[in-house]
Amino acid sequence: MIGLFDSGHGGLTVQRVLEKRFPLRDFVYLGDHRQAPYGAKSAEHVLALTRRGVERLFDEGCRLVIIACNSAAAIALRRLQQDWLARFYPEHRILGVIVPVVEAVTQVPWSVQEADPNHAGEPMTVGVFGTRHTVKSDAFRIEISKRAPAVSVVQQACPKLAGAIEADASESELSALVERYAAALSESLGERRLDAVVLGCTHYPLVGNLFERSLPRGVKMVSQPDLVTESLAAYLRRHPEFDRPSAEPSSRRRDFLTSGDPDLVGRIAQRFLGHPVVFRAA
Ligand code: DGL
Repeated sequence: MIGLFDSGHGGLTVQRVLEKRFPLRDFVYLGDHRQAPYGAKSAEHVLALTRRGVERLFDEGCRLVIIACNSAAAIALRRLQQDWLARFYPEHRILGVIVPVVEAVTQVPWSVQEADPNHAGEPMTVGVFGTRHTVKSDAFRIEISKRAPAVSVVQQACPKLAGAIEADASESELSALVERYAAALSESLGERRLDAVVLGCTHYPLVGNLFERSLPRGVKMVSQPDLVTESLAAYLRRHPEFDRPSAEPSSRRRDFLTSGDPDLVGRIAQRFLGHPVVFRAA
């Protein structure tokens, strides 16, 4: 059984692709809607909430948990893997959502920590939109630059966007926010031409069409949910012991937990997940 954790609805953009790719696998989703968005909280608070969420998923029987939240992954993943997991849950694993994007943009495996002097990567400019925490952590830029120094990374924080999506804001409000952040990113590009964009917050694919409309034509949109899914497939091929598919769809488990109001969350989530969904209280 595989667990997915996010501050709220965002991880559903990943879950949606996972469900299609792995129809026979069991998934348990946990959204910390009561605490969402994480953007305005301190890093220590996000770390504590993430640890609690992951542990809750371990309690549900998930031996493998994906932190389907860039902010939580940027702040907490390494710390949880290094200290807490090794000490208290050595039989469990936690994966994030940043690694697959870095590997895809650089075409260099995560295990390679330095650029090959003969291969600086394809020269290009990549824009990353994320929450304040993700941009402040500089994780995308640091990890991409060290493997592919020819790739220039321009980041733009979108402090109000995840909260507006959580609150089910109107299309015009969301569109105004996206336009504002896209314009700010264009300004910081200077002379550089934008080649590709990463929506580095799992909430943002929910307004992916608004980003596409606000960005210059021809910019490649890097799909984090697709990359995370393919990366998970490769991980499970290497480590089949962490999850075994069910024999048939009728015996598979799909559970949705929330720290918020299950009815309200379920109503909004259906729109994002593409099928009716019943949440229960975590
Ligand atoms: N989905 C989270 C992310 O990927 C949103 C964080 C928040 O709640 O601010 O960063």
